[in-house]
Amino acid sequence: MKPKTAKIMTVVGARPNFMKAAPIIAAIRDHNKGVTSSRGTESTGNSQLMLESVLVHTGQHYDEAMSDRFFADLNIPKPDVHLGVGSGSHAAQTADVIKKFEEVLQREKPDLLIVVGDVNSTLGCALVAAKISFDANGTKPLVAHVEAGLRSFDRGMPEEINRIVTDHVADLLFVTEESGLRNLRDEGIPDEKVHFVGNTMIDSLMAFKDQANSSKILDKLGLRNSNGGSGSSGGTAPYALLTLHRPSNVDQSATLLNILEGLEELSSTYPVIFPAHPRTQKKVAEFGFERFFEIGNGSGERKESRTAHADGRIRLVEPLGYLDFLCLMGNAAVVVTDSGGIQEETTCLGVPCVTVRENTERPITVKVGTNVLAGTSKDGIREAARKQLNSKFSGAVPEGWDGKSAQRILAVICREIEKRRSV
Ligand code: UD1
Repeated sequence: MKPKTAKIMTVVGARPNFMKAAPIIAAIRDHNKGVTSSRGTESTGNSQLMLESVLVHTGQHYDEAMSDRFFADLNIPKPDVHLGVGSGSHAAQTADVIKKFEEVLQREKPDLLIVVGDVNSTLGCALVAAKISFDANGTKPLVAHVEAGLRSFDRGMPEEINRIVTDHVADLLFVTEESGLRNLRDEGIPDEKVHFVGNTMIDSLMAFKDQANSSKILDKLGLRNSNGGSGSSGGTAPYALLTLHRPSNVDQSATLLNILEGLEELSSTYPVIFPAHPRTQKKVAEFGFERFFEIGNGSGERKESRTAHADGRIRLVEPLGYLDFLCLMGNAAVVVTDSGGIQEETTCLGVPCVTVRENTERPITVKVGTNVLAGTSKDGIREAARKQLNSKFSGAVPEGWDGKSAQRILAVICREIEKRRSV
């Protein structure tokens, strides 16, 4: 008998989406192999549904460094549809996603749409799917939100608005940590829509950690000890890794200046490697803050071989691919960041993390993991960096962050599609 099929559409748009979606796309492929072979589909709930996967890239991020490199590193197939949206104001970018995605959704008519994370593409596509009608009966896809329930309680963050709206139009909410369950309950979202599955970003980390260890980035950046060694900190001189891109941290010159001054003690003690987001690079030039940085070339390689931190300047390099960044993170003495995902990845790697924000939507990383919230004051950053550099605490890995989240998500998805068809 021919197996029953269902069409699953997955949307990615911006850099942090790629590592969250990659394991789901891989799990769909493995599930299908299980349906057609004797291996079975135990890991996805024994469903015999064949899943047709359609991958849509909105093009919110479009550079080789911000997008293409991640497809290669994470083994993601070429998108079936590319919307070519690009940059713009929040309204213009989201509106463009909405307009272009509606045509695609109407044409493809999937059974279920997966959106991940909290970027403008997540919100735009979820909204379209929640309001579409494929026929006179009002048929529409189920909407699944991966990484639901996270809340910073700071509505000044564009991502917070995206999270709240996406969660409230979604049919299936896949939660990464206990705070998400609480937040969704507090907002009145029915329990039956909510599934605690763990973290697909950590699925990617586990799948690619070994490969990342073979990255040549430590050599390229001259971070090896003179006695050599490979991969582990045994062969690596102590260094810090920095990322900063949040509009609230980099868009105002006084705030960015304050942060850079807060980092001076760290950067005169250790090399600080800073793969800088395009937004941040533009702001550094606009504010004339080049004096804080030794600017590397596009490949991330150093121009000179002098000790990186000799003059206390931060080493600014182009954004890195997934494997190189994972390698740098895993070997760092401390990571300083305002990213969401990096708080989770450092927790999983047991690497101390200083988050340059007043709040986090990922409190589990502070509660059981290696993360501390530094705030954005000079003193706060300086003290948090000092504390974390002396920390012996390697933290614990949160519940369900075990590399199997995508399988759990697919099990729920197959069950829900079958349930919907049976009524
Ligand atoms: C977006 C997400 C943010 C995420 C971040 C990760 C939203 C609201 N924000 O912010 O949650 O943490 O991605 O990177 O969706 N640019 C390039 N090349 C690119 C992409 C962007 O040069 O490939 C430049 C553009 O000039 C643009 C700026 O970077 O103006 C910002 O890009 P945008 O997508 O608007 O937001 P991000 O700050 O990247």
